[in-house]
Amino acid sequence: MPTVRVTRRAHFCSAHRLHRVDWSDEQNREVFGDCSNPNWHGHNYILDVTVEGPVDPETGFVMDLKQLKHAMNERVIDDVDHRNLNLEVSWLEGTMASTENFAVAIWDRIASALPEGVRLHRIYLQETPNNSVEYMGPVGG
Ligand code: NI
Repeated sequence: MPTVRVTRRAHFCSAHRLHRVDWSDEQNREVFGDCSNPNWHGHNYILDVTVEGPVDPETGFVMDLKQLKHAMNERVIDDVDHRNLNLEVSWLEGTMASTENFAVAIWDRIASALPEGVRLHRIYLQETPNNSVEYMGPVGG
């Protein structure tokens, strides 16, 4: 059976702030720049979730993309869209709301929601057209 990777894309908007209370304002500004703005700021994020698995001979699918869309909405998008990542998302609590940390947290949310035989391959998260991260899961995992 051929193994194929399938990607589903979602768009959402969130506010955040990168800031450490144990650092001075100068240090925060130097490291985080505009992302340290005290009155928050927003990004139009793009999330690509890529799954991998055998092609079902009956459906011709790796998995039903309606099911993947549903998992992404229920586990991630509904929680973060038009929300403040620092204040309103329980599964990011205590986490620096960087794109890196956000992608790792999304991995954990999606990986546990996939049907048997389908493996999460990659989380791609774009914060701006110039800045994006990808996470392929824990090393050796
Ligand atoms: Ni930012």
